[in-house]
Amino acid sequence: QDQRNDDLKALIRTIPDFPKPGIQFRDITTLLLDAKGFADAIARMAAATVGPVDLVAGIEARGFIFAAAMAAPLGAGVLLIRKDGKLPGVTIAEDYALEYGTDRIAMHEDALVPGQRVLLVDDLIATGGTARAAVRLLRKAGAVVEQAQFLLDLPDLGGADALRADGLAVDSLMA
Ligand code: PRP
Ligand code: HPA
Repeated sequence: QDQRNDDLKALIRTIPDFPKPGIQFRDITTLLLDAKGFADAIARMAAATVGPVDLVAGIEARGFIFAAAMAAPLGAGVLLIRKDGKLPGVTIAEDYALEYGTDRIAMHEDALVPGQRVLLVDDLIATGGTARAAVRLLRKAGAVVEQAQFLLDLPDLGGADALRADGLAVDSLMA
């Protein structure tokens, strides 16, 4: 990563010991509160996107904010990937591992037409468990998923590399 996004990095604060002792939590709410910072982040993430996309898939909850804001500049719709049990229609779901136990995300089975190009968006990638489950889900539905955009990567946790091994181009504005 170069220094182009240092202005945005300065808008993210670190909260020690959240949600557990020893975790340095990167808090993006301070970037969202900054009108220019948030607008610049969306513009840069949209500019890093390659080629046309039909849908931007956002992951609940913070991913929705970035996916929704990127949809208009990319001329795409928004596809919601939600925690299981929240979507009203017929869904398909994928499990993913947490530190203790598993979680499950879901999407409407008819949210996309097979062959549509989907950009995956979230605020942050850590272990990559959530994003990789989202890619499995989208591909199960027939989507062409070739790229993912994140505001922030925690590279020591290896998620972006794992996603690249799944065949995606992965971009983040900062690490
Ligand atoms: C956070 C973040 C990503 C995920 C990253 O979401 O927004 O979705 O964790 O972690 P991973 O790469 O290790 O899977 P969280 O589950 O805290 O949900 P929230 O957005 O609803 O707070
Ligand atoms: N910040 C926000 N979300 C997260 C983090 C973090 O540091 N780690 C895993 N999810």
